[in-house]
Amino acid sequence: MVNPVYSPDPSRYESGIRYRRCGRSGVLLPEISLGFWHNFGDVNTLANSQEMVYYAFDHGITHFDLANNYGPSYGSAEETFGQIMKKSMLPFRDEMFISTKAGHDMWPGPYGEWGSRKYLMASLDQSLRRMNLDYVDIFYSHRFDPNTPLEETLQALVDIVRSGKALYAGFSKYPPEAAAFAYKYLRDRDVPCLLYQGRYNILNREPEKEGILDQAKAEGSGFIAFSPLAQGLLSGRYLHGIPADSRMAKEFFLKSSVLTPSMQACLLKLNDIAAARGQSLSEMALAWLLKDDRVTSVIVGTSSVKQLEDDFKAMENIKFSPEELAAIDGAVGQCDMSVFGRP
Ligand SMILES: NC(=O)c1ccc[n+]([C@@H]2O[C@H](COP(=O)([O-])OP(=O)(O)OC[C@H]3O[C@@H](n4cnc5c(N)ncnc54)[C@H](OP(=O)(O)O)[C@@H]3O)[C@@H](O)[C@H]2O)c1
Repeated sequence: MVNPVYSPDPSRYESGIRYRRCGRSGVLLPEISLGFWHNFGDVNTLANSQEMVYYAFDHGITHFDLANNYGPSYGSAEETFGQIMKKSMLPFRDEMFISTKAGHDMWPGPYGEWGSRKYLMASLDQSLRRMNLDYVDIFYSHRFDPNTPLEETLQALVDIVRSGKALYAGFSKYPPEAAAFAYKYLRDRDVPCLLYQGRYNILNREPEKEGILDQAKAEGSGFIAFSPLAQGLLSGRYLHGIPADSRMAKEFFLKSSVLTPSMQACLLKLNDIAAARGQSLSEMALAWLLKDDRVTSVIVGTSSVKQLEDDFKAMENIKFSPEELAAIDGAVGQCDMSVFGRP
């Protein structure tokens, strides 16, 4: 008998992982999910990407979040994932909840971005081929398109679900009014939105302020937070400068201009609060999101197994005293967010 390439840990569901129900649906998602925006492209090593996927699955992290253009280069994160699936994970497909999205720029010309039916349908077919999958568990409209009738984008999601290429539909970064329309449109066609995916972290409170969290709950949808560590800012990474191997050092999506003296002071204060709780800053930042039962899951993007290991520990303590919450708000309140922009 040939040994399998990968045998998952038999105790993976007793590793400390917890699952939360996605709105009013039958789906449970792990509190921590793994995202593929960075660190899984063709610029990264397959060995490291594979190690992170195995570590995640060995610890009950069943949700893997992808999009057509994750990499770099575009499409390469899905290709990496597809290689891992084919080589070792396909026997466990039914234990996995896999997402992809389309909406941002993917290929040249007028049909390679935004929200047309043409783009969404073609993109999902490409994604499935890259990932060696017959279907994804959830397909998202990746961003609101102000120039395409929302009905067209949403009907494409409905038809995709009816075709069986995705089991559920969702949308990401939709403003509240567009989200209200989308929730109703999808529900009226018996394809209710499973998840709203939005940026949410200690430094970026927009989903609270804009009412996105309450709206998702009222609509029976889950809410899944992306960039829960503000792309790594809310980790120990930048407390004493900019490490050469960090996302910020690449000056692409996370700019060094956000690390102002006021931001640095804020991070140091937050780090002290975390230390007093017996947590690292990244653990506390994730726990802060998970304290709220309107949040179904947080999608971490990690560049190493060590980071994923640390982030996993966040689930050990997600309770905050009123004093701790006030101290966190106080630290953030003193930070000049106008310089910071949107992390
Ligand atoms: N819907 C959307 O439009 C959208 C947008 C963005 C992201 N997303 C999804 O959300 C996922 C997560 O976003 P994100 O990558 O910005 O998440 P994040 O968790 O806020 O940031 C990830 C970065 O934080 C650092 N990090 C993570 N854990 C750490 C630890 N324990 N110690 C030190 N540093 C740590 C790493 O930085 P280094 O790389 O510097 O080591 C890592 O690359 C994405 O992969 C994607 O699936 C969706």
